[in-house]
Amino acid sequence: MAFGSIMKLTTDNKLSIEMAPFTREEVIATFVPGFAQMSVTKYLGNASVQTAETESEWYDAMIKDTSRVVWGIWVIENDSRTLIGSTSLMDIELEPLKQATTGITIVDKNYWGKGIAGACHRARTWYAFEQMAIVRLKSAVYEGNEASRRAIEKVGYTSVYTERNDIFFDGRLHHKECFECLNPTSWAWNRWWRDDRPTRKSVEARELTREVLKWAETHVELA
Ligand SMILES: CC(C)(COP(=O)(O)OP(=O)(O)OC[C@H]1O[C@@H](n2cnc3c(N)ncnc32)[C@H](O)[C@@H]1OP(=O)(O)O)[C@@H](O)C(=O)NCCC(=O)NCCS
Repeated sequence: MAFGSIMKLTTDNKLSIEMAPFTREEVIATFVPGFAQMSVTKYLGNASVQTAETESEWYDAMIKDTSRVVWGIWVIENDSRTLIGSTSLMDIELEPLKQATTGITIVDKNYWGKGIAGACHRARTWYAFEQMAIVRLKSAVYEGNEASRRAIEKVGYTSVYTERNDIFFDGRLHHKECFECLNPTSWAWNRWWRDDRPTRKSVEARELTREVLKWAETHVELA
């Protein structure tokens, strides 16, 4: 599976984004300097610096991995096309219900705070539910990563449980909060909840995710 279909979208403040594949050379050029910054890696659960060799090994494993769908995040400005990060659906399980874990990293800090993660989350959520029939997406956010938390909550992820004291950095332990986002369409929703009563926060989040799917109909262009 490796790379997901190419998607073109625009952020709320009119930045043009393409979610599209990248080459080994492009990943090395962008992610080696990107992952050299602890401000970028500390919330990823693995604050290690990468080299051309380790990124190359990652690339080899990634393109063969059938349990993962990856997109490069490209910003299109005038005549330039710049790779600034990546997002993915990982650990895709088919049975007993189709589920996946999501992640995103924008390594170029010049592009933080411009609504890019928010827009990519919307497009990826739409792709997962409408193009892959995934029933449940999972994600985790380390304590203190407010931008990440806010970005996933806005598309309808809700907190399910907290792993206390999961990681140590910046002089103290940090909790890891685990989230889920449920496919809001009736066939998937009913399969997930069966005869149980959905929680109130899941019902509220369902509305947010429905809005995301509606947004994607007019804002995401599949190549
Ligand atoms: C976390 C990350 C993906 C956010 O990307 P981004 O494009 O800057 O996020 P957005 O601009 O879409 O902002 C998301 C929301 O967080 C808010 N936000 C941004 N920075 C914030 C901050 N420092 N504190 C609180 N809220 C913040 C934004 O206002 C926005 O909310 P809004 O839509 O209600 O205004 C990016 O900072 C990153 O890649 N960090 C390093 C790796 C990482 O932490 N990945 C996520 C692991 S779970």
